[in-house]
Amino acid sequence: MEKIVIEGQVPLKGKVRCEGAKNAALPIMAATMLCEEPCILSGVPPLKDVESMSRVLCSLGLDVTMEDGTISVRQRGPLGLEPPYEAVRAMRASFLVLGPLLCRLGAARIPLPGGCDIGQRPVDLHLKGLQAMGASIELKGGYVEAKARRLAGATIYLDFPSVGATENLMMAASQAAGETVIENAAQEPEVVDLANFLNAIGANIRGAGTSRVRITGRRGFGGCEYTIIPDRLEAATYLLAGISTGGSIRVDNVIPEHLTAFLAKIQEAGAEVSTGLRYVTASMEGRPNPVNVKTLPYPGFPTDLQAPVMSFLTTARGTSMIIEGVFERRFAHVEELNRMGAKIRAEGSHAVVEGVEELTGASVEAPDLRAGAALVLAGLQARGRTEVAGVSHIKRGYYQLVEKLKGVGARIELVQSEENP
Ligand code: EPZ
Repeated sequence: MEKIVIEGQVPLKGKVRCEGAKNAALPIMAATMLCEEPCILSGVPPLKDVESMSRVLCSLGLDVTMEDGTISVRQRGPLGLEPPYEAVRAMRASFLVLGPLLCRLGAARIPLPGGCDIGQRPVDLHLKGLQAMGASIELKGGYVEAKARRLAGATIYLDFPSVGATENLMMAASQAAGETVIENAAQEPEVVDLANFLNAIGANIRGAGTSRVRITGRRGFGGCEYTIIPDRLEAATYLLAGISTGGSIRVDNVIPEHLTAFLAKIQEAGAEVSTGLRYVTASMEGRPNPVNVKTLPYPGFPTDLQAPVMSFLTTARGTSMIIEGVFERRFAHVEELNRMGAKIRAEGSHAVVEGVEELTGASVEAPDLRAGAALVLAGLQARGRTEVAGVSHIKRGYYQLVEKLKGVGARIELVQSEENP
């Protein structure tokens, strides 16, 4: 089994280049099922989750080849209507093939995605929206069995601005008969990227990036060449690595506007930030000021940066309050950070982070992707040696994390651990 080993307290200085956004690439890959012509996607991050999505698409009748961050997708034969059970269970984003399958085949049979470390993660908003568009939905033996001769446009109100539900419903509505309006839609940049891709293959979607998205259904989508937006979450993680270690990091291939809430928060904590067209630099010396963070749907502070920013605030000059406003259970990293000498009390959706002088290296385990990144960040600022297990989680969302951190001076290695290799 692999683990990441870090000797901490080296101020990180230099440049890191970000990959394309995982959370844009995955829905856009699902959307290629709507194309009747080949598609070329560039700037795709070479991550395990992208490989998983490629396997799902191949299992449904598409040919997917990937080389140097460019994916080519073409339909090889008749489309299947049921992705493999283990693929959907392994990666929740596989559920995003539901909308496209209903458009192309009028039917789909998809395993219900399981819960995970950050909550039960239901799909009720996806299903309610599809039913509003005329789909019949049955839950049988852990599967969603959906049927719709032709989806009809509808006005759908999302109780919560769910990213996945907005994406699935946008894809379903793109080929429905008539007009669909999604009220209280998610506004994340990755939702906008999906809408831009759909319009590039022939859809008619307006208002993506606002809380009201209008879709006029069309049929017969072609193919296109499309470049995925940069990964704002990867960018923020490296900026935090710089300011957590008293260094200075410049991240290239990032859209600064996608990080407004995050940059405002680290500046409040005392970081120096400068931005250009496609880069951001952050630097800081000494311990951060304590700040309060509440995670919210975009444009609020991203839930995916809650664990990384908590790691940064463990050594603040005072007490910070972190409220998780998106998922009902996303504090699995707290226990592990406390093993490194942090003083965090988590209760429900609130975590009180009492700043300490410094963290101490320890052996810790990543419970999920973003918590894993937070533990690596903690190891970079801690005194002594930290070993982070659960590397497979981290590889789902960060390409060459160890190499990129080495490139800015970190004493970090990826090693095979003796126990259960
Ligand atoms: C996407 O997940 C991202 N994943 C997540 O990133 C991200 O944390 C999340 O959006 C929020 O920004 C991808 O894009 C692949 P949601 P998604 O539907 O779509 C509730 C990462 O680390 N909800 O916006 O699954 C749900 O329980 C991952 O890259 C319902 O109640 O998130 C949660 O509390 C982790 N019913 C909240 O909405 C539904 O039908 C937000 O979920 C759907 C969601």
